Amino acid sequence: ASLDTFNTFGISARAYDLLHVRSAAELQALSEQPELLTKGWLALGGGSNLVLTGDVRQLVLKIEIMGKALVDEDDKYWIVQAGAGENWHGFVEWTLQQGFPGLENLALIPGVVGSSPVQNIGAYGVELQDRFHSLDAVEIETGRAFTLTAAQCSFGYRDSVFKHAPVKPGDHGLAGKAVITHVRFALPKQWRAEIGYLDIQRKMAELQITDPSAQQVFDMVVAIRRAKLPDPAVIGNAGSFFKNPVVTAEQCRDIINREPNIVHYEMPDGTIKLAAGWLIDACGWRGKSMGNAGVYEKQALVLVNRFGETGIRATGGEVMTLAGAIQASVYERFGIRLEPEPVVV
Ligand code: EPU
Repeated sequence: ASLDTFNTFGISARAYDLLHVRSAAELQALSEQPELLTKGWLALGGGSNLVLTGDVRQLVLKIEIMGKALVDEDDKYWIVQAGAGENWHGFVEWTLQQGFPGLENLALIPGVVGSSPVQNIGAYGVELQDRFHSLDAVEIETGRAFTLTAAQCSFGYRDSVFKHAPVKPGDHGLAGKAVITHVRFALPKQWRAEIGYLDIQRKMAELQITDPSAQQVFDMVVAIRRAKLPDPAVIGNAGSFFKNPVVTAEQCRDIINREPNIVHYEMPDGTIKLAAGWLIDACGWRGKSMGNAGVYEKQALVLVNRFGETGIRATGGEVMTLAGAIQASVYERFGIRLEPEPVVV
């Protein structure tokens, strides 16, 4: 099966075997058919955080578990659940229509609900972990279904237990072990707009809004993202290609001495997060290409497929070559190692 349209980067690759998964029970049943799993497996949601570097020999599990519902409530929260295969943005829109605000800052993030906890998606001052309740998953080898709370997910900046493979027995990493089937969110009944982020402040000034509704925050986030991020349906991409690197206050002082304009944010724990987009831009990469892979003109943190211009799909190899060249020049100039954000297969 062709995976060309199953990854938002639009990289050309094929899967030897692909299974459409529509329920948790279908995932659980896999443990009784070990012959299907001899070459391993790869769960695929929206394919929006993925770089395919070749044809996929593992069994591809295309997760299409659907459904959205209010499943519980207490004094403080609406508990809303979605199937892992639901489109993320569609789910955010639905929660607002139903009167459950809280996810509006995360509008227009590509991908599906099941991928959202894996990298603890975040934008405009809100991270998934701020609204997360719990999730259901299936351990593929044994077919065991289980539930995790927020604490058990070990969320961090673009990080969770699903990004770490267990190295030795007893490690609790779940990468390559389990697949998420449903996610529940705790959405506050006492909602307050999260509008501290600079881009939102600017948009509010432009529109002369002082006290936005959740729908207005949603509309502003959509407008901000449309203006500077490429629509994957038109220009293939996987969102931010690198994580924003975190350095100690001491390292940061050292860099600021050399580069007074560097964009940086102080974290609650005293460490400093640097804007990777700024570092890449400062090295002159914005708008550049290598083969059919390029750096987006309006946001240097986003690598894009030049397929729309050249008519030839970028290969995963071209994307990783470009990424490597960017990492090398950022390291040479700033002494900082950029870490890719998407999963490389
Ligand atoms: N910048 C440049 N040149 C560029 C790009 C950015 O100088 O080419 C500067 C900007 O002017 C700004 C700073 O770098 O001062 C940071 O840029 P921006 O505000 O666009 O945010 P970001 O750090 O690039 C992060 C997330 C995004 C999220 C936005 C908004 C990461 C890796 N990325 O981007 O998340 O949407 O903030 O909150 O944390 C994603 O993870 O895929 C993603 C899109």
